[in-house]
Amino acid sequence: MTKTTATAHTNIALIKYWGKKDAQLNLPTTSSLSLTLDEFYTTTTVENSNIDQLIINGQMADPTRVHHFLDALRAELGDFSPLLISSQNYVPTAAGLASSASAFAALTAATTRHLGLDLPLTTLSRLARRGSGSATRSLFGGFALWQAGTNDQTSYANALPTPNIPISLLVVEISGLQKKISSSEGMLRAMTSPNYEQWVHDANWQITAMQAALQASDLTRVGQLAEDNALAMHALNLSAKDRRFTYFTPQTIQVLDLVKKLRQACLIAYATLDAGPNVKIITHSDQAAYIQAQLHQELPKLRVTIAHPGPGVSYEQ
Ligand code: PMV
Repeated sequence: MTKTTATAHTNIALIKYWGKKDAQLNLPTTSSLSLTLDEFYTTTTVENSNIDQLIINGQMADPTRVHHFLDALRAELGDFSPLLISSQNYVPTAAGLASSASAFAALTAATTRHLGLDLPLTTLSRLARRGSGSATRSLFGGFALWQAGTNDQTSYANALPTPNIPISLLVVEISGLQKKISSSEGMLRAMTSPNYEQWVHDANWQITAMQAALQASDLTRVGQLAEDNALAMHALNLSAKDRRFTYFTPQTIQVLDLVKKLRQACLIAYATLDAGPNVKIITHSDQAAYIQAQLHQELPKLRVTIAHPGPGVSYEQ
């Protein structure tokens, strides 16, 4: 029986996706821009089966979300047989790092290749969006720009060619997770914030400013824009009119304080955070090991991984 395997790496948005125009199609309210990381990825193998089944890291998993996604693919590509999907996640999901981006990108690539289709990356990106918005960007290596678009056909990501910028990202895993609020639920609540309109307005110019900063290899500007954007996103959660919340824990704040201290010591260090308490620190590659050592000294219990720009989707024969 033939099997098809694809690998996709996770990505971290420097300008975030935080709100949907259409929840069914995962159409975002704003465009977003990300960096794909070398350290974290998902490898997925698909083969024909008699029902859609999902195995993650060797364990049977609830296939409901994947089943919905496969049905969206069936509606678009034509009916295909149920699939047995085996995924190996090299993303520390238990520590709250999102694996849905790499998982749905790898699944889209493996499934379409399994069906004998050789689709352009932008089409794979558009299809992956139906599983998880951030998956649109995980098909591409390096930096990617997800154009919000106006409908299902026009909302997908593209690679963003940039000069060889010496960027590293330190991923700080914070333990003691609070109860998880899914990104979809978080977005729904955030959109009730009185500041939401301002967020959309700012994201629109930040996307352009971030591209200019990347072209100029201006890491300080990249970091400032990313941190401003991320903290504004988390401020929406705190100011939601309907069931306000936060992903921050006391340790998140400790790491944010340390990032500020590193900047005061003239290092390049800026924070970004997603739908969880973990902090990712943007820095210059030459400073990453030093910052890792500082974190280890001040917060020895936290695991810190240094990540760099990673590759786009790949296949195994
Ligand atoms: O793709 P989702 O539904 O998991 O949402 C991702 C949301 C953020 O990670 C917080 C931001 C982003 O653009 O990746």
